Amino acid sequence: MQNIRTEVIVVDPVYPEPSVIGRAATLLHDGEIVVFPTETVYGLGADAFRPAALERIFVAKGRPFSDPLIVHIAEERTLELLTTSIPEQAKRLTQAFWPGPLTLILPRGPHVPHLVTAGLETVAIRMPRHAVALALIRALGSPIAAPSANRFMHISPTTAQHALVDLAGRVPLILDAGPCEVGVESTVLDLCSDVPRILRPGGVSLEALRKVLPDVQPPMRSKKASENEDIVAKKAPGQLVTHYAPTVPLLLFDGAVEAIRASMLAEVQRRCAQGECVGVLVADEDVHVFSESGALIYALGSADEPVEIAAKLFAGLRALEEAHVQVILCRNFGEQGLGLAIRDRLLKAAGGKVFG
Ligand code: TXA
Ligand code: MG
Repeated sequence: MQNIRTEVIVVDPVYPEPSVIGRAATLLHDGEIVVFPTETVYGLGADAFRPAALERIFVAKGRPFSDPLIVHIAEERTLELLTTSIPEQAKRLTQAFWPGPLTLILPRGPHVPHLVTAGLETVAIRMPRHAVALALIRALGSPIAAPSANRFMHISPTTAQHALVDLAGRVPLILDAGPCEVGVESTVLDLCSDVPRILRPGGVSLEALRKVLPDVQPPMRSKKASENEDIVAKKAPGQLVTHYAPTVPLLLFDGAVEAIRASMLAEVQRRCAQGECVGVLVADEDVHVFSESGALIYALGSADEPVEIAAKLFAGLRALEEAHVQVILCRNFGEQGLGLAIRDRLLKAAGGKVFG
């Protein structure tokens, strides 16, 4: 398992070549795992109805079996294979957001393997809007279960190269369709509790969901990180505070923009004076503040454009990590729109701690 040859094949993101899709589908059909692009992040897929193939996902990622997988479908009628009931709310949401970055938690159908659901009585389902993902699911003729294509606890991959860094020698094939459009994972929405609640903020914003279902609740929050972990661990295994960890420590700065800049700069200067190699993850508008500071700067885009920031976020974290900085300092970007998902990922990378 550890040292198989990993082939990377380039595929057209809009009009995927049938020969390439056929090759990947044959591997999946034979019980193999394949890395493929979605509009959010790259996924590590297996036929959702083949337990032996599903097991390979967990082995390749080093992921515990207690962490359930999302099932990816290409037609809405496939829902009937996977769930026992499709509530009215689900119909309205799928009409508005599928194909797209919204995962729905629904009652598990009797044929869904326990490896997919980690023994839960619910199943996570989404219809991605990436042409390669849809073509692959259709060519296989079966839903594809897929987590993000990173090693367990690492940052999700938004390019094929990111997936290769994490999974080289562990998967036979990576389909390379270029960078993912959204850049953060799908929004996971629980439709099995009393009120629909976001378990993981993601590519579809709370505001957008509320336009369709006004009573959608934001993710649970608690002042104490440990309490939060408790609540989250029960409802959404795999959503622990330390889930998205770069291999270097990340310090997250919160507050008003001017205050954030001042305290980040002071911290950068203090660390640089001690000979530390510091990386900063900031908005384009902040770059001038740090240009003489000695820190390595990665600009994510305009602070007014959370969509742009989200698209570059994971690439930024990985770029600084690969540049061997000893610490990453990052600013907060607010909670509007995709800001909520950005903040969630940064908080997790920071182990739940915030400065300022
Ligand atoms: O955008 C995405 O969602 C990407 C692409 C590949 O589709 N996938 C992804 O999968 O992020 P993964 O495994 O890294 O994260 C899925 C999360 C898990 O952490 C888990 O908490 C939640 O979805 N999940 C899966 N099944 C669930 C269930 N039955 N109940 C509650 N949460 C569930
Ligand atoms: Mg993941």
